[in-house]
Amino acid sequence: MIDADRAPLAAAMKAYAASGALAFHTPGHKQGLGAPPLLRELVTEQGLREEVSLAEELDDLHRPEGCLKEAQDRAARLWDADEAIFSVNGTTGAIHAMMTATLSSGDEVIVPRNIHRSVVGGLVLTGARPVYLTPEFDEMPGIAHGVTAESVRRALAAHPEAKAVVAVYPTYYGVASELRAIAAAAHEKGVPLLVDEAHGAHLRFSDALPPDALSCGADLVAQSTHKLLGAMTQASILFRKGGRVPAERVRRTASMLATTSPNYLLMASLDIARLQMEEEGEMRVGRAVRLAEELRTAINEVPGLWCFGRERMGRPGAEALDATKLTVNVSGLGLSGEEAMRLLRGKGIQAELADARNVLFIVSMADTKREAERLFLALKALSQENEGKGKEALLSVSTPPTLPSAVSPREAFFAAWESVPLSRAVGRIAAEEATFYPPGIPAVVPGEMITEEAVGYLVEMTRMGLKVTGPQDPSLSTFCVLK
Ligand SMILES: Cc1ncc(COP(=O)(O)O)c(C=O)c1O
Repeated sequence: MIDADRAPLAAAMKAYAASGALAFHTPGHKQGLGAPPLLRELVTEQGLREEVSLAEELDDLHRPEGCLKEAQDRAARLWDADEAIFSVNGTTGAIHAMMTATLSSGDEVIVPRNIHRSVVGGLVLTGARPVYLTPEFDEMPGIAHGVTAESVRRALAAHPEAKAVVAVYPTYYGVASELRAIAAAAHEKGVPLLVDEAHGAHLRFSDALPPDALSCGADLVAQSTHKLLGAMTQASILFRKGGRVPAERVRRTASMLATTSPNYLLMASLDIARLQMEEEGEMRVGRAVRLAEELRTAINEVPGLWCFGRERMGRPGAEALDATKLTVNVSGLGLSGEEAMRLLRGKGIQAELADARNVLFIVSMADTKREAERLFLALKALSQENEGKGKEALLSVSTPPTLPSAVSPREAFFAAWESVPLSRAVGRIAAEEATFYPPGIPAVVPGEMITEEAVGYLVEMTRMGLKVTGPQDPSLSTFCVLK
C-alpha cells in the first residue's frame, strides 16, 4: 500500500483518481475514458486514471510546494543533497539544465573529451567554449576511463577564467576516477564541479561500490534514476549541493528547459524508486554486487573470455570500479563485441552495448541468481561454439590527435555546412563529430579545425574496420564541414 508517508507524490495521484472528480481538464484521454484499448493495455486502467496533472493537490513542477516538493525533498535527503529537481527529459535534460545554470556564452569550461552527446548539447545551448581533457585509455580492454585530478589542475591553471569543470562519473563501463581530488581542484579555483552521473544512481547503496558524486563534493549532479534503479525510462534527477551555483538559478533553468506538462507517471516512478531504495536499497544493490562479482570470477574461467575487475584499478583515470558492470572481452574467441552481442541475442540474452572488443552487461538491483545463471550459461555456450576459431589480431588502437578549436560548438551548430570528400576536409572546420569504439574518445568535435593528422587518424581507424558514430556518412568518404 502506498500512503503519503512513504511516497507523497504517488499517494496524491492515487487520492485524486479515487476522489471521483469529473475531469474537464487535460489530458484529453480523461483518466482513461477516451483511451484506445491498446493504450489501456499498455498503461493499465489504473495507470491512466492516475495520469493527470494540473489538479491543485498534484502540485506544480515549476513551483513545487506540496506533494511534489515533498517527493523531491525526500530524494534530496536520501542522496544527501540540498535540493533535488525531477527531470522528465532524462539525464540529458538534467545535464542541459546544470550547464545552462552555470555557463554563459563565451565562458570556458573544462570537459573530458569522452563526454556524452548531452554535454555537447549543453555546449551548444550555452555557447560555452570547451577546454577538452583527453581521458586515460586502457589499451586492454580497449576503453577510455576518466581524467586525472592533475590534468584538471593543469587545465585550470592554463585557463584561469574557466567557469566550471564537468566530469563523467563513473563511465558507462563503470570505471570511477578520483572525483574527490577533482572536486578539490575545481573548488581551489572557486569553480563548481558538474557531474554527469548517468550511471551512478545506485552507488550510494553499497560500500563495495565507488563513492557517489555528491559525497565526493560535486556541486551539481545529473543522475539517471531510470538507468540503474527502478524509475521509468526518461525519469532522472538533478541534484544540487552547496551554494556555488545559486539555488534560484538552478531552479529557473531547470524550469525553463522542462515541459509545462510533465508526465506524472514518470515523476511518480521517481518517488517510488526512491522509496524502494530507502527500504531495500542496501539489500538489492548489495545483492547485485555479489552476483556480479561471482559472475566475473566464473566468466574469467571460461576459455576465450576476460572480464576485468578491481585488479585493473588504481591507474590514472581509474580509481575504483562499479563491480555491477561486466565488460566481457571476447577477442579471445575471434569475435568482435558486436558479433558476440548478436550471437547472445540468439541465445535469449540482450546486452547493454558492444564495441569492437567487448560486450557490456549490467547486473542491477532487479537481478537474482536465476538471471545470473542464464547469462553465465549463454556465455559458456558462446565460448564452446567459438573457441579455437582463430584468434583476432589485437587491434592497436591509439588515442586521437588533439585538434585546435576554431569556433565554439554553438557557432558550429548554427553555421551553414557542406559535405566534402574527406581528403579535402583538411584546413576546414568540422560541422560534425566522429568517434571510434574503441577508444570511445571523439577524434573530431564540431568547431574544431581538421588537420592532416586528424584525417590520417580517421582513415586508419576506418581501415581497421572500427565502428564510428557521429558522421552523416559512416564510410567517412565524405565529412561535413562549415561553409
Ligand atoms: C554517460 C551518459 N551521460 C548522459 C546520458 C543521458 O542520459 P538519458 O538517456 O537519461 O538522457 C547517457 C545515456 O546513455 C550516458 O550514457
